[in-house]
Amino acid sequence: MIISEKMQGFIQRSSWIRKMFEEGLALKKQFGADKVCDFSLGNPDINPPDIFYEKLAEISSKRTKGLHAYMPNAGHLNVREKIAGFVQKEHEVNVKADEIIMTVGAAGGLNIIFKALLNPDDEVIVPAPYFVEYGFYVDNHNGKLVPVPSKDDFSLDFDAIKNAITSKTRIVLINSPNNPSGKVYSENELAALSSLLAEQSKNYNRDIILVSDEPYRRLMFDGKLCPPLMKHYNNSIVTTSFSKDLSIPGERIGFVAAHPDITDKAALVGAMTLANRILGYVNAPSLMQHVVGDIIDSTVDMSIYQKRRDLLSDILKEAGFEFQNPEGSFYFFPKTPIEDDTKFVNFLKDELILTVPGSGFGLKGHFRVCFCVDATIIERSREGFKRAYNKARA
Ligand SMILES: Cc1ncc(COP(=O)(O)O)c(C=O)c1O
Repeated sequence: MIISEKMQGFIQRSSWIRKMFEEGLALKKQFGADKVCDFSLGNPDINPPDIFYEKLAEISSKRTKGLHAYMPNAGHLNVREKIAGFVQKEHEVNVKADEIIMTVGAAGGLNIIFKALLNPDDEVIVPAPYFVEYGFYVDNHNGKLVPVPSKDDFSLDFDAIKNAITSKTRIVLINSPNNPSGKVYSENELAALSSLLAEQSKNYNRDIILVSDEPYRRLMFDGKLCPPLMKHYNNSIVTTSFSKDLSIPGERIGFVAAHPDITDKAALVGAMTLANRILGYVNAPSLMQHVVGDIIDSTVDMSIYQKRRDLLSDILKEAGFEFQNPEGSFYFFPKTPIEDDTKFVNFLKDELILTVPGSGFGLKGHFRVCFCVDATIIERSREGFKRAYNKARA
């Protein structure tokens, strides 16, 4: 085998995702795509807003010289200025263009942050449940992911975080609204976490950086807003993308914003910019930088997700599931009626309902339901959810 041992292990670990995907395809082939309720993938199905297409056409039609050329690794300055204005409003700090790096999605953002910050075996604490790719990204840069439990309602467990902090901790990584739980951390929680990290940084005489991965920031329900984070903690870095809120994950565009008063700011921003280059991203896609910069205040029609969330909430409640209503993102993360989440996900599959076991997100006894599908498909799952629930409880 010429594949590295590490990659062989990773292929093994990630094979259940591929297996699920393949099983889903097989089910659709056997029963017809319209019969299968596929809630497995977080791939936005709503079209981007009209203004996205208009800007895309307008910008590309100008044939501006240099538009498609290489550029500084941090991205176009005029775009970074617009992004800085956006971050100022969202996070209530005076972030400037110098502190913004355009990235290849939030995934690219996380990788340049980790590359810039982690020494071998440095620890990255993450509250569970968490996005499964974090483990791979941290490993890319020789760090160690340290998952810690959250409370039952998915709010932060400060004791668990405090107990996990060691002299090797460099990053605490949070994701709000959360994939897979839909949890949004309150401003009080963010302030308390910031105080804890400031206190522990002092105790260990080592800067602990709070990294906020927030691609779902503008996917909020019930008219609420995601609270600001950067204003509470100088040693913070935000990364996000337009994958979800503009429905353009395939375009690979996002950014990183560093707090204006973060420790060693100039060196850190320089290191992240170099990381963008040497990880092979070089720079974020040029045309997309201009488009998102010009439509920074636009999002997909959130009323569509709101209706789906309400409908699915009704269906899951009616079937008897125990769950927290998601406050943001497009995921539900209910408890499974039996302990074995993989077994329960198979019961759902028998009903042609595809979901993902919680084990895949570091929290057993749950399953993730993604509502990136039409409301008609959600409605069609109603009886199947009931039957699977009752079969599991029988
Ligand atoms: C929590 C979280 N972080 C990061 C990403 C990666 O986002 P992007 O496609 O912008 O790289 C995802 C994608 O699903 C995600 O759910």
